[in-house]
Amino acid sequence: MSRTDPLETALERAFGRVVGAQTPPRLMAAMHHAVFPGGARIRPRVALAVAAAHGPVPPRAESLAVAIEFVHCASLVHDDLPCFDNAPVRRGRMSVHAKFGESLAVLAGDGLIVGAFEVLGHAIVEQPRLAGAIGVLAAAVGANGGLVAGQGWEDEPSTDVQRYHHAKTAALFEAAVCMGAIAAKVDPAQWRPVGTALGEAYQIADDLGDLISTPTELGKPVGQDLIHDRPNAALELGPERAFARLEATLARAVDAVPPCPGQDEFREWLGSACARLFPRRPVVHHLPVREEAPLRA
Ligand code: FPP
Ligand code: MG
Repeated sequence: MSRTDPLETALERAFGRVVGAQTPPRLMAAMHHAVFPGGARIRPRVALAVAAAHGPVPPRAESLAVAIEFVHCASLVHDDLPCFDNAPVRRGRMSVHAKFGESLAVLAGDGLIVGAFEVLGHAIVEQPRLAGAIGVLAAAVGANGGLVAGQGWEDEPSTDVQRYHHAKTAALFEAAVCMGAIAAKVDPAQWRPVGTALGEAYQIADDLGDLISTPTELGKPVGQDLIHDRPNAALELGPERAFARLEATLARAVDAVPPCPGQDEFREWLGSACARLFPRRPVVHHLPVREEAPLRA
């Protein structure tokens, strides 16, 4: 990722505001490790692309994108913890708890979540039209259908798979498109189906990756859904049907783009972003087998 990428610059600037002279150095390093270098940054890029589809990117839109990415990075730090997935590697490097210890990983996630809302708060003071973004992000992260709920479903004796995946994955994509719409001062509801479909596509791609990729390709452990007894679309449908569903879901996202001045450009951007992000249909698969139905979903 180029250092001149405006999104990276915005993330670095915002990071410099949520930590400071009063931040313990190892906590600051753990938070930094969680955010830089990042992954594809797909959620904030989607938010900015939605805003741009309605005209020149409005002032402080980048703060909304930063807030989404901080929350996403925090969720990965917590997800990797021993009490959840116990993953030693993330983005091809040591996960935050593997490098800094469990207590600093918990605090790094906490600091980033609070930092996300701090960044939003500052943006809203300058641009009150962005106020709706607070509720949208809180709902996508929170315990009532957001990321926290999604993770919580893994500790229930049974749950509805769609509800679990929606909370764990699609909610933040929906927040991304809605926050882009709020930045552009248009009705977020018209963009939400794009986020829903993108979230579903991301989940299928993640399931496929977990099943048929290597740790080197993904920069994180694979085979986790079998280990943790989680539902996996590629395992349930088989890879061919899962790829077909991925393609159909991406097509649904493209079809759902509402009329706007940059509709064609947005669709083109989404197509090329998805082509880079999502796996192509492979030729041969050698699959692990789940011996029993998943217990927890
Ligand atoms: C990755 O899933 C994890 C998530 C999408 C959400 C994790 C959420 C929490 C730990 C709740 C706490 C929330 C916040 C905001 C800190 P995965 O394990 O399927 O994907 P992976 O292969 O990338 O680990
Ligand atoms: Mg995980």
